Amino acid sequence: MSDRIEWHGNWCIEVAPTPAAVILFGAGGDLAKRKLFPSLYELYKGNLLHPDSRIACCVRSAEGFAVKVRAALPDTAPDRRDEFLTLLDPVAGDYRSDGFFQRLAEYLADVDRRASAMPRNRLFYLAIPPDAAAGTVAFLDRAGLLREAEDEGQPWRHVVFEKPFGRDLASSRELDRTLHRYLKESQIYRIDHYLGKETVQNISILRFANTVFEPVWNRHYVDHVQITMAESIGVEHRAGYYETSGLLRDMFQNHMLEMLSLAAMEMPNSNDPDAMRDEQRKVIDAIRRPEGDTLFRDFVRGQYAAGNGMAAYREEPGVPPDSMVETYTAARLFIDNWRWRDVPFYIRSGKRMTARNSEIAVVFKHIPHSLFLPVKARDISADTLVMHVQPEEGMDLTIQAKHPGPRLCMGPMTLHFHYSELGCDPAVTDAYARLLLDAMLGDPTLFMRSDLITSGWELFTPVLEAWERHPERAPLHFYAAGSEGPAAADQLLRADGSREWRPVAGK
Ligand code: BG6
Repeated sequence: MSDRIEWHGNWCIEVAPTPAAVILFGAGGDLAKRKLFPSLYELYKGNLLHPDSRIACCVRSAEGFAVKVRAALPDTAPDRRDEFLTLLDPVAGDYRSDGFFQRLAEYLADVDRRASAMPRNRLFYLAIPPDAAAGTVAFLDRAGLLREAEDEGQPWRHVVFEKPFGRDLASSRELDRTLHRYLKESQIYRIDHYLGKETVQNISILRFANTVFEPVWNRHYVDHVQITMAESIGVEHRAGYYETSGLLRDMFQNHMLEMLSLAAMEMPNSNDPDAMRDEQRKVIDAIRRPEGDTLFRDFVRGQYAAGNGMAAYREEPGVPPDSMVETYTAARLFIDNWRWRDVPFYIRSGKRMTARNSEIAVVFKHIPHSLFLPVKARDISADTLVMHVQPEEGMDLTIQAKHPGPRLCMGPMTLHFHYSELGCDPAVTDAYARLLLDAMLGDPTLFMRSDLITSGWELFTPVLEAWERHPERAPLHFYAAGSEGPAAADQLLRADGSREWRPVAGK
């Protein structure tokens, strides 16, 4: 990433990509409305989308399309918004026919003829259901739209894929084989939008641009690590997808493993995209593979029941009343390497929890001996470093300090760093905008490499299979909507001593 950033003191200026045609499949869908159009607009306003770019919006029908896109954009700068809207062209039709792709090819050839700066680069964004992705790539290939010349500096063809990348090890390998029939790995951009979040990117800066953390970032000082991704929302209108996925596939195999690997990996030799991802891969490979009893003992699955005025998952539109799909998972993982051997990583994620909160908490060991008797070493709370991913963005370090008062008045005190207090106004703040920009700049650092995905599936596929084959050994624990999750998840930590989950809604 370093070669495309100009440093100015402590800040950096983003580099705008060359003109490109962005071809958005699923432009009439929810993701496009909520994330992709607002992000492209954010890039445009930040002068990070070349004015000669065009955005081809592939939709079933063009009727009312422009009005819908306009409504999806903030109206703070109507003139800029109108300028941005002129970059959009609807390309309507059914994408399951060669005819549609022929028309798309003609449209793109026409764009190339008309544009002054010749935006022959193409970013295809597949915001479509996963089972349609491989077919769409085959159509694109048949229409000759994916071919890249070998020589350096020639127009590029990048294709962005949304997760899920398969639903288990076998299907993800199959998908990968299919995609590689048409594309080189360097053309494939697999999005995990967590990687685009500022706070997730900050994990490696915190670890590798400071000296204070590295000496204590290991089994000698760290008691355990807790990674939480809690959502207060339920399944919303996504039952169709969620019923085929469940939480483990939806959050663990991707976002959770990305966060864990960034927190636990060794320092790469450089910040070259592959060097970073090689280290992430090594750490995922080193996670002890659950087998036998651990498949059940170290994984807890739950589903939200009605609570706090909210409906149960089984009452949500489109969910069968006897659904056994998990909306919550907690797990205890171990990384079998020199740095982390025997340090538990407790990870959990759930929908309809008390609050929206994603964080990584590194809980250090208790002091070995207390000088401050009668307070015992175990009673002095352990230092904790929390990297807040969202909605709070920043970090907290909680340590012991003297409270003003009687001689032995001591207690935890928290040092805060919040991004909101920085007072800077970066050009790109949204995760999708960051990733769209990177895909146009050809920077794959924040995208998932295929072997990382495979390694994640190797880890979790046996768990999914065990749940399916032996449901009696992996009961679904119900928790009230708006709660901290099922009580069974507390046992994961308590079984290891007196550890407790951090409250989801913060202290
Ligand atoms: C998506 C999942 O990848 O991430 C959703 O499919 C989840 O189920 C979402 O709600 C959470 O993303 P964020 O950025 O809101 O934490």
